[in-house]
Amino acid sequence: MNIIPVKNYQDMSRKAAEIVSETINTMDKPVLGLATGSTPEGLYQCLINEHKEGNISFRHVTTFNLDEYVGLHGSDPNSYRYYMYDKLFRHIDIELENTYVPNGVAEDLEKECTSYENLIQEHASIDLQILGIGLNGHIGFNEPGTSFTSRTHIVELDEITRQANARFFKSLDDVPTQAITTGIGTIMESKKIILLISGENKAETVARLVNGEISETFPASILNEHSNVTIIADVASLSKLSK
Ligand code: PGA
Repeated sequence: MNIIPVKNYQDMSRKAAEIVSETINTMDKPVLGLATGSTPEGLYQCLINEHKEGNISFRHVTTFNLDEYVGLHGSDPNSYRYYMYDKLFRHIDIELENTYVPNGVAEDLEKECTSYENLIQEHASIDLQILGIGLNGHIGFNEPGTSFTSRTHIVELDEITRQANARFFKSLDDVPTQAITTGIGTIMESKKIILLISGENKAETVARLVNGEISETFPASILNEHSNVTIIADVASLSKLSK
């Protein structure tokens, strides 16, 4: 894995935006894999700014989000469909019908997982996958113990994940207990991956990712086996990396 160290969150976001913009500007029909959470918000803001300045258009772009909470409708402010609309899509010229997020209120959730996975396969693969990482090493909502060959599936969220995300909800009880996530196998088929990491609270996580063993108990560790992963990490998150 290639690591690009940056000063702070702003620089991480700008560097990531450069890579995403290059993909969008050099490909006919780029397929982007998108992440949610606090980490990519700055990246999305940079992309909006680039668009407003006329440097980038999303008309030819297709996007697949990594995951969605089970039980939240796309109109719920805590759903990831809403997050994407609010933090990116409504500010740019992307065709909304080319933006895919799993449907967390599908009548048949298993069927939803299969069709979402098939839809990704129909687009050949993700050209550029944007990832964040959870404190427990999850990518998407693939919690520790998830098979490295998993495809889009339903997960029980770890307590640590629910607690970390409770800041967005009224109370911990309101945080859904399940989600739909693309699998680790799905993510690993992306042609290129950028992993964004910021903040001292992720320092142990980064150290384990870079220096630890590859194991399903730490899902992101499999990224060590992907041939095109770039980690863009700020100095605070790199502070526990052994030299
Ligand atoms: P965060 O979430 O960006 O809000 O820290 C990352 C993740 O859980 O994957």
